[in-house]
Order: sequence, then C-alpha cells, then structure tokens
Amino acid sequence: MTRDLVLGVFEMLYPNNAHPTWRHPHARADRYTDLDHWLGLATLLDDAGLEFLFFADSYGYATDGAGDLLDVGARHGVQFGQLDPMMIVTALTAATRDLGIVVTSQTTVEAPYASARRFATLDHLTRGRIGWNMVTGASPNSIARTFGQQVLPDHAARYDIADEFADICYQLWEGSWADDALRGDVAGDVWADPARIRPVDHRGEHRTSTGVFGVPPSPQRTPTLFQAGTSARGRDFAALHAEVVFLQGTSTASCAEHVADLRRRAEGHGRTDGLRVVTGVSVVVDPDAGRAADLRAELDAQFRPEDAAALYLANTGIDLLALDPDLPISTQSTEQGRTALERFTATGEPTVAEVLEKFRAHGLRGFQVTGDPASVGDQLAEIVAATDVDGFMFEPTFGDHGAFVDVVEHVLPELERRGLRTPGRRTTGTLRERMGGTGPRLPASHPAAAHRWPA
Ligand SMILES: Cc1cc2nc3c(=O)[nH]c(=O)nc-3n(C[C@H](O)[C@H](O)[C@H](O)COP(=O)(O)O)c2cc1C
Repeated sequence: MTRDLVLGVFEMLYPNNAHPTWRHPHARADRYTDLDHWLGLATLLDDAGLEFLFFADSYGYATDGAGDLLDVGARHGVQFGQLDPMMIVTALTAATRDLGIVVTSQTTVEAPYASARRFATLDHLTRGRIGWNMVTGASPNSIARTFGQQVLPDHAARYDIADEFADICYQLWEGSWADDALRGDVAGDVWADPARIRPVDHRGEHRTSTGVFGVPPSPQRTPTLFQAGTSARGRDFAALHAEVVFLQGTSTASCAEHVADLRRRAEGHGRTDGLRVVTGVSVVVDPDAGRAADLRAELDAQFRPEDAAALYLANTGIDLLALDPDLPISTQSTEQGRTALERFTATGEPTVAEVLEKFRAHGLRGFQVTGDPASVGDQLAEIVAATDVDGFMFEPTFGDHGAFVDVVEHVLPELERRGLRTPGRRTTGTLRERMGGTGPRLPASHPAAAHRWPA
C-alpha cells in the first residue's frame, strides 16, 4: 500500500538559508530579491506535483547584550536581510497551477484583525492555496524593540496571546459571515445580507476585537494552519490549533517521541481530524555517493562557530560565546525560543562548547541525509518507519535551486519505488485538501468550527 507522504520545500526570503552560505558559487544572495528566482522555484515544485512551498520568516535578528544588531548578523547575513514573503504569494500562485504557499506570520506584535484580513485576501486571490505558519516569533527581544513594545511578554504569555489571536481570527473567518450572507442579488439590490453578518465580540486578557469582518467568505475561510515550536507549551498550542506541525527532526528517537506526543495531545483536545506532522530534511544526493559526501562536507564547512553562535543567540537569546565553554547548558534558561535549548537538555548533560559544536554541525536543519539516490531513499524510508511522520519539508543546501532540482530528479522516484508516494501524484484543490483534508473548510472537530453559524 502506498503511504503518500505530503511533500514541500522549506525556504525563506533571506540572502542565506539558516546557514550563511552566501559566498558559495551556488548561493542566492545576489538573486533572492529578484522575483524571477522565486518564480523559478515555485514552477519547479508545481511541475513536480509537490504540495507546498513554505516560507519561514521573522522580524527578529540576533542582538548583542545592548540589544543592537550583532556585527556578524550583518557581515554574514545570519538571519538578516529578510523580505516579507506575504508580498510574493499571488505572483507565485498566478504562475503555478496547484502549489500551496505557506507563510510564517507571528502573533506577538501583529494585530489579529489585520492579519486575518491579509490571509483572507490571499485565500481569495490564490483560490484557497494559502497556509499560515502560526508562530509566537523568533528573536522576540529585537522585535519588541523595533515594534516599540516596552515590555516583552514572557514565553508563556506569548503563547497565551497566540491562543487569543487565533481565536479572534477564527471568529472573523468562520463566524462573522454566514455561508449564505453574500447574495450578489442584482435584481433584489442586495450584495450582502446584513442579517447574516454578525460582529465578533472578543474582549480578552491580551487582545480585544469587536466588529464585523470586512472580507467576504473565501474558499478555505481559515487558511491551512501550520505550526513550528516544540517546547511543552508550543506542542500544546500545536495540538489545539495546527493541522500540520513542522518539526526539525534530529534523531529518529526524539522525532518519534514528538510525533506521538503531538498526536496524543491533539486527541486530548478532541481533535479527531488527524494532525499531520512533517519533518525538515536536508538532502545532499548525487549518483556518485563519494561526490555526495564531498558536497556535504563542503556545505558543513560553510557554517562557522561565530555564525552558529549568532543563530543560536537569535533563537534563544543565549550567547554561547560569552559563557564558560565547560558549563553544562542545563544551567541556562530562556524566555525566548526554547526549542533550540530543550533539544540539548532533553538528552544528556552537554557543555556549552559541545552545544556550540553540535549546533554548528546541525544548525536549525532537520535530518541530514547524504548519499546516492538509493541510499537516500532508504534513509528517508527508515525515518518514516521509525517516526510515523506524514511527510517531508526539503531544505535548501547552498541556496540556489540545485537541492530541489536534485530532490525532484533523484529523490521523488526513490520514494515512489518504495511505496511512499503514488507515482506521478498530483492532487488538486485547496491546500487543505491537498494536505489530506476532506474538504476546503476546517473539519468540525477543530476549535474554530465552534464559531460557525448554525446550519
Ligand atoms: C522548526 C521550527 C521552525 C520555526 N520557524 C519560525 C519562523 O519561521 N519564524 C518565527 O518567527 N519563528 C519560528 N519558529 C519559532 C517558533 O515558532 C516559536 O514561536 C518559538 O520557537 C518559541 O516557541 P518554543 O519555545 O516552543 O520553541 C520556529 C521554530 C521551530 C522549532
């Protein structure tokens, strides 16, 4: 039986990927501001039948102790130089037939109404091909400064805000307009029926919104919901809201534990619709296994300790270079992102120096798979069998499209041969349906459905 993994690509509108490869001949720092670069990628993936293109994004950057941009952030473009992915969504969907586009947008400083309006607009203009990666936001300290927030809400409060933010969006998307509110009745002179449009009335501890939604119902209403962030609180947020959770698997054991835990938590919230989990994977494949190994070594050499420390600092607020290298990392705690800390404290007692080297070698990537096509196919099959993930998000390597051309040419056929993907699979419809949903709208067991008008 074919399992039919869902497949997408992880990208960002940055000069670098998570890793500063910008000086490499196969980088894209000189092209990432060019729309043609992204059109080329979107059409490559769409032609191959992949389900989605995912854009990570953050307003945040790595800062020093005084809160200023870290020099190395600018010199090497470490999580810096970010364009806004929302702005290119319609160009990409106009140039492709079915590819879904997932945009990361955070809940700490955005305004729920404005965000809901942007996603509903995109849902219309893409005919239901938009997804939202709901995050509380990487590098919140720098964001708090640039957005003029005097006090950064702590980790728990940021997730509480995210819960309220999502609930307001659900009320606007699912509850403000009845299904039959938009009449378009020229003879009767009724564009929309005011009796079938109602205000939301959310007066929360953190966010308030009272009023009707200005955007008429779109194909999915709520965009397909993605989430990333695996602290205990992050997982619970995912289990309540997400339809697709994005993990960065590092070992099959910890990834399997996360997947099982997420599914358990989702059932605990009465989610019977089946949470899908995808893991990031960085594939270096070449028909010549020796050349693949050489390329992987070349890629690893791009990521220097000072870059790794800057990226770690941007995500956790912990400056590994300022700490005693022999100190156990478990002595540290953070109110910024916890995923990159808990990943090291969950197993063993690594020192600061060991964490820096492990993070340099692995960074924010998921599984790292290297070899000839058959070996890569075997390794991916092993990951699926061991972890029960539903799909993969392929990550860039040096930065240009080469990694994805290789995936399409060498990896897809191997997945098909192993019964992990129907040969030539190309689903159609909204992103939700392409990700396995039974219709364009959220299922009844999702909390957003409670806001709908009675049938
Ligand atoms: C795999 C992964 C990808 C993420 N991608 C983004 C992103 O693109 N933008 C962002 O602002 N935060 C991103 N985050 C941050 C989280 O979504 C989350 O808001 C943050 O890590 C704090 O939650 P945590 O403590 O649960 O990790 C990502 C986290 C993980 C684990």
